Amino acid sequence: MNSDVLQSDHSYDSVKEYYGKVVQKTSDLKTEACCSTQKIPHHLAEVLPLINAEIKDKYYGCGSPIPMCLENLKVLDLGCGTGRDCYVMSKLVGERGFVHGIDMTENQISVAKKHVEAQAKVFGYSVPNVKFIFDYIENIPEYFERESLDVVTSNCVINLTEDKEAILRSVYQILKFGGEMYFSDVYTDRRVPKEMSEDPVLRGECLGGALYQRDFERIAGKVGFSDPRIVSKRTIDVSNKEIQNLVGNIKFYSITYRLWKLEDLEDGCEDYGHIAVYNGQIPGSPLRFELDAGHVFDKNKSENVCGNTAIMLCQTRFKKHFEVSGSFKEHLGKFEAHTNIERHSQSELGNPPCC
Ligand SMILES: C[S@@+](CC[C@H](N)C(=O)[O-])C[C@H]1O[C@@H](n2cnc3c(N)ncnc32)[C@H](O)[C@@H]1O
Repeated sequence: MNSDVLQSDHSYDSVKEYYGKVVQKTSDLKTEACCSTQKIPHHLAEVLPLINAEIKDKYYGCGSPIPMCLENLKVLDLGCGTGRDCYVMSKLVGERGFVHGIDMTENQISVAKKHVEAQAKVFGYSVPNVKFIFDYIENIPEYFERESLDVVTSNCVINLTEDKEAILRSVYQILKFGGEMYFSDVYTDRRVPKEMSEDPVLRGECLGGALYQRDFERIAGKVGFSDPRIVSKRTIDVSNKEIQNLVGNIKFYSITYRLWKLEDLEDGCEDYGHIAVYNGQIPGSPLRFELDAGHVFDKNKSENVCGNTAIMLCQTRFKKHFEVSGSFKEHLGKFEAHTNIERHSQSELGNPPCC
């Protein structure tokens, strides 16, 4: 899809209007859907004070889609808005890494662009390591070569797009093998009826276009992101009466997913007898490392892991931090023994880890 097609059919005009004009700051939103209430992780909390207030005042994210271990990586943020997450990652990737942000709303991305030089100075960089692109996410294959990026992030954006499957397919294309899409978005416990999904306020508030969680996981698997992993999940409190009346019994969740581009992942967790030990060397995680909500590794403690988790630890940037033993020679059945399941109830996570 190219921008001319998108611009001529006006499919995104109401979203641009919403983020460019209707809402001017985070507190203008009617619900907490596009406004994260989560505690900010330690590795981000240290960086946020270094970011200009104008960038943070128009932050409309719903989660914390910034993974650990970003140093020297090439990252792209989809629907970057005024660039809060891009600037946080600019600091985390360091001067030898690079961050791109793309957004279609001029009023948003112009704020992001305005601060490129000044933020580089604040971080002590001689040359900025951030670039912002004013365009549609649908056009990312025009900007990025196949297998050229390490990480793709996004914060409360994919729900606003028309063809989610096409976007995930493009992301899969431009990621390197061993790379990941790590992103927060809004999901539902059932499919949203068409008339509701077209309501401009519900759409703008990131509710109308939200995908049913199981449909999302099906789409992710279809384009190649097997075994999507939930990093965190929280229920969105829709307290605004007008919006409550419109959405009825539909439940909304903010979920952060980790989708790996790895060749040999199976669609679920199978047991081959692998064991993984974390060495405690990931910056900011000296005692334990959380791969996702179902897989938390204490330093120097052996954990039984399924074949997929073994691959996620051995064929990604985390490999230098784990010793993984085992092979795929003998299949031992479905992986049952998940070590950390008690940390999150299955009903809250939706899909239990390793099932
Ligand atoms: C809820 S805001 C989130 C902004 C930003 N990620 C943040 O955390 O502040 C959604 C953003 O996605 C952008 N967006 C939605 N659909 C888009 C598309 N198809 N292409 C480019 N940007 C899009 C909007 O312009 C808006 O800035």
